[in-house]
Amino acid sequence: MKKMKLLLSLASVLIVASMILGACAQKPAEEKGLAVGIVLPTKDEPRWIQDETRFKDALTEQGYAVEILFSQGDPAKEKQNVETLISKGIKVLIICPHDGTAAAAAAEAARAAGVKVVSYDRLILDTDAVDYYVTFDSVAVGAAQAQYLVDNAAGTGLPLYLYAGASSDNNAFLFFEGAWNVLQPKIVDGTFVIKNSPEAVALQDKATLTRDEMGKILGQITTNWDFNVAKNLAEANLTAATAEDKGEVFILAPNDGTARAIADAFAADTDVTKYYVTGQDAEKASVQYIIDGKQSMTVLKDVRTLVSDAIAAAIAFLDGKTPEQTHTYNNNVIEVPAKPSAVVTVTKDNVKAAIVDSGYYPASDFTGLE
Ligand code: GAL
Repeated sequence: MKKMKLLLSLASVLIVASMILGACAQKPAEEKGLAVGIVLPTKDEPRWIQDETRFKDALTEQGYAVEILFSQGDPAKEKQNVETLISKGIKVLIICPHDGTAAAAAAEAARAAGVKVVSYDRLILDTDAVDYYVTFDSVAVGAAQAQYLVDNAAGTGLPLYLYAGASSDNNAFLFFEGAWNVLQPKIVDGTFVIKNSPEAVALQDKATLTRDEMGKILGQITTNWDFNVAKNLAEANLTAATAEDKGEVFILAPNDGTARAIADAFAADTDVTKYYVTGQDAEKASVQYIIDGKQSMTVLKDVRTLVSDAIAAAIAFLDGKTPEQTHTYNNNVIEVPAKPSAVVTVTKDNVKAAIVDSGYYPASDFTGLE
């Protein structure tokens, strides 16, 4: 009898202990909430689908659930997205603005609600309500694009066609600045001749351009980051150009989506005998274009790095700490702390090593890879 009682009490101790342990055990990984909300500019450009995928991969691996909303190129929708996330109780907002200046209002709404604001890839301008900026070195992106063109230029008087991103995106200015730094001396020495922007020709003797000067050039060469705008502009430029303006041409295209559209337009022109065209983002379709010899290069910005920097910054803020800083970016009101990441030039020569062997994309996503 005594033995029985002892066994029973031992069993109840075990049951209680296991109940306590069960209650204390971590929730299953997929149920961990993170007080973070993410807002991305649009689903219509493959770049941001890349970011969504990489965020989901990283967050699933770390066991966090967070909400990702898209603004579809509309600052009003963007602000609404931010308000939705604030009402759900986020403590950190990771936001890539569609329009750097228009997003100031959304950032200020978050700040007013006590939410930390992390500007993601693109800088939010004209407000002090930005706590941190995760980014690649965008001046280096433009420089890498231009350097590729310079490295392939032999002779003088080579036709140069310039294209840029959207004027509402601060990065478009940084990319152009980086490219101009490298191209301008090669325009002055007669290697290249600009064919599609009178504003750029008028400023070609200036090594350093002001924001207003760059704005004037961008006004003539902007693609608005839109494939159709890029295609139409390239076609209009080719229609206006003479056969002498063509032959072997050099094209500064700002990113992969627009590069493919511009490349297709140049490829369709029978007076163009060869073209070199730049890009950025390592979009899958452009990696295939590079393998096929239809796009000359891209700049790989490893989105996994940007995503992990953004998550690290969010966790630092949640822990009451400050994210790592190596640099600041002026947004017209404050110096925003940042830690820019390096970029890699990808051509047909290193596409397998940089894209496949690095684990960025599987070989099975492509055809004709050697
Ligand atoms: C930029 C971004 C690029 C490019 C572009 C178009 O701000 O840095 O990677 O994709 O927007 O969405």
